[in-house]
Amino acid sequence: MIPIAGKYSTFAPFYDVMSGEYPVYRAGRETGIKMLRQPSGAQVLDVGCGTGLNFSLLQSQIAPGGTIVGIDRSPEMLVQARRRAERNGWTNVILIQADATELSPTDIGSRIAAQGGRAHSDAILATYALSLMKDWETAWANMVSLAAPGASLCVVDMQKPVGLSAALTLLAKAACWLGGSDIDAHPWTAVERDCADVKAASARGGHLQIRTGTRNTDA
Ligand SMILES: C[S@@+](CC[C@H](N)C(=O)[O-])C[C@H]1O[C@@H](n2cnc3c(N)ncnc32)[C@H](O)[C@@H]1O
Repeated sequence: MIPIAGKYSTFAPFYDVMSGEYPVYRAGRETGIKMLRQPSGAQVLDVGCGTGLNFSLLQSQIAPGGTIVGIDRSPEMLVQARRRAERNGWTNVILIQADATELSPTDIGSRIAAQGGRAHSDAILATYALSLMKDWETAWANMVSLAAPGASLCVVDMQKPVGLSAALTLLAKAACWLGGSDIDAHPWTAVERDCADVKAASARGGHLQIRTGTRNTDA
């Protein structure tokens, strides 16, 4: 079996068509990005950005003058993200290869600044990424460290469907297993725990959980 890191590298060119985007996962990213506070001119950090499926939705909110910073540990996923930016003529996208659970926020801040961005971002999101990381709490702590005071934070991730949709649990578990996600990780609980002004939403029978909040100024 291909280990998780290898999976995203091997299947990077096919990720957009294989990931169940339109039937299922688009709904979560659309809701999260609408709830994320990111005024025009904002710098948004997308942790575990993958092929950049969030970018067009983000662009429409941060224009004009905003910046997207995408971090991913897979160089192959970043190749796809770079192609997406080039295809669309987006010159405001900074891509950095790094492991979100191991990075030094100071080092990443300097790398962002070296490419014309700011060390701290006005908005930070992770969509369908934290539940893949065994040590997602460290990735979350790094997200908070890279957030400007008062920044908006968003986690979109998966759990077992609830209510009538619980009938689809096996399907949801299979999708998470294939992608290497831990369906029981529930990383949005960190937003509820660490942020102010928390807002919650869900989609697809509760399978998709969305939380946004504001970075506490004393964090
Ligand atoms: C399921 S994909 C989601 C991609 C994108 N966020 C989206 O919504 O389509 C998960 C991504 O997280 C990345 N990833 C997994 N573990 C990571 C880590 N420790 N640090 C940075 N990126 C990681 C993978 O390489 C992959 O691109």
